[in-house]
Amino acid sequence: MKTTSVHGMWSSRLMFVLAATGSAVGLGNIWRFPYITSENGGGAFVLVYLGCIAVVGLPILFSEIVIGRRGRMSPINSLKELADDAGASRAWIGLGWLGVIAGFLVLSFYSVVAGWTLAYGFDYLQQLVVGAPPISDPGQTFENMLASPGKLIFWHAVFMVLTVGVVALGVEEGLERAVSVLMPTLFVLLLVLLGYGMSTGHFQEALGFLFSPDWSRVSGSMVVTAMGQAFFTLSLGMCAIMAYGAYLPSDVNVPRVGVAVAFSDTAVALVAGLAIFPIVLSFGLDPEGGGAGFIFTALPLAFNEMPFGIAYGTAFFLLLSVAAWTSSISLLEPPTAYFVEATNFSRKQIAISVATLTWLMGLLSVFGLNIWREFTLGGKDIMGAIEFLASNIMLPIGGLLTAVFAGWVLSNRITREELDAKMPAWAFNGWLWLTRVVTPIMIVIVLLGLIGII
Ligand code: PFF
Repeated sequence: MKTTSVHGMWSSRLMFVLAATGSAVGLGNIWRFPYITSENGGGAFVLVYLGCIAVVGLPILFSEIVIGRRGRMSPINSLKELADDAGASRAWIGLGWLGVIAGFLVLSFYSVVAGWTLAYGFDYLQQLVVGAPPISDPGQTFENMLASPGKLIFWHAVFMVLTVGVVALGVEEGLERAVSVLMPTLFVLLLVLLGYGMSTGHFQEALGFLFSPDWSRVSGSMVVTAMGQAFFTLSLGMCAIMAYGAYLPSDVNVPRVGVAVAFSDTAVALVAGLAIFPIVLSFGLDPEGGGAGFIFTALPLAFNEMPFGIAYGTAFFLLLSVAAWTSSISLLEPPTAYFVEATNFSRKQIAISVATLTWLMGLLSVFGLNIWREFTLGGKDIMGAIEFLASNIMLPIGGLLTAVFAGWVLSNRITREELDAKMPAWAFNGWLWLTRVVTPIMIVIVLLGLIGII
């Protein structure tokens, strides 16, 4: 059994929690969660999503960490070794490849949206520093940005360079330290925004929208979206957490860190929702208006009214970019680690090559917003279609395979040793039962529903 990874190790339990939370907390919580909650009618969606986090997300989160830490290599090679040891088929490396491809697709559009947050952060910074004019018509400003391929490509490139910069160097102390300051700062900013939301007089209404379920809104496609969001937000199903698990010291208790990551991630999403919906309601906007521009069009309205709104807007969008950054490095890490193991190229060369390909792929999402706007797939623009394919189909399939691997291929002795040797039998059996039976069945039902079989 290996105790270290060739790629390096987290310096402590806290560093793993910060890095994994950094991966989990990102655009998924603050951009995606509010907008898909809005599109799916609120309460019922939120409760189904929370159910998916508890019943499907947590067991898979534990499974990814266990597989990664036991293998101590890139996901593809960890799966290969563990499958060999267990006498199982080498086809399991397919799960690692699925993760690499899903990561490629997710990062391609994630980097474009992160580019929007950078562009907004920069715009607010100009307002703050050189007194540039404020965003007076947020809807129009957002439309104008999407209509400008040059601007989108520029910020998409800046974000990708930032991502490569970190992955190429290896996850250094610098980033660990930066994350440990910046992520709590973002959370505090969200709490301040929550305070502002509460002062708008529409907090009650927002609470009702977010938490009182209208069960008639539950449909197959809504459950697919809720489960997709659970995977997306926890960074599951594409082996990112598996890659991070490989660098986790052996003495760290997996259930404890897993729960900490899932809890923080969920708290950030809920606080973001509770901050944003009162603002939307207070400006008379439709909370079901949704759309990918949701926060970019709603929040500037609040920043225009709030005391110190410009400084606040600057901090908010820049920190959101940081949250996206700590997520995107975890999307680039699994393929980079694999090619470092499989080739003689340097980490730097590999990270740059993978990122360049992903950046090129991202251009499809960019052009889908403007010059290829007419082109739709299943009623979605190119970015929406890639987002749907990756989040709602590939991540759940990846999660399903991860659960089957951890539950059925790895021996109980190994999983128990990795999870926590001193874990009470009921807790271990509970995890095993969820991972072996409940989680896979739920994912299969949702996927069958998706292709219209049930
Ligand atoms: N969890 C990230 C977010 O919520 O923004 C997105 C993400 C990162 C998804 C890493 C998947 C992943 F592997």
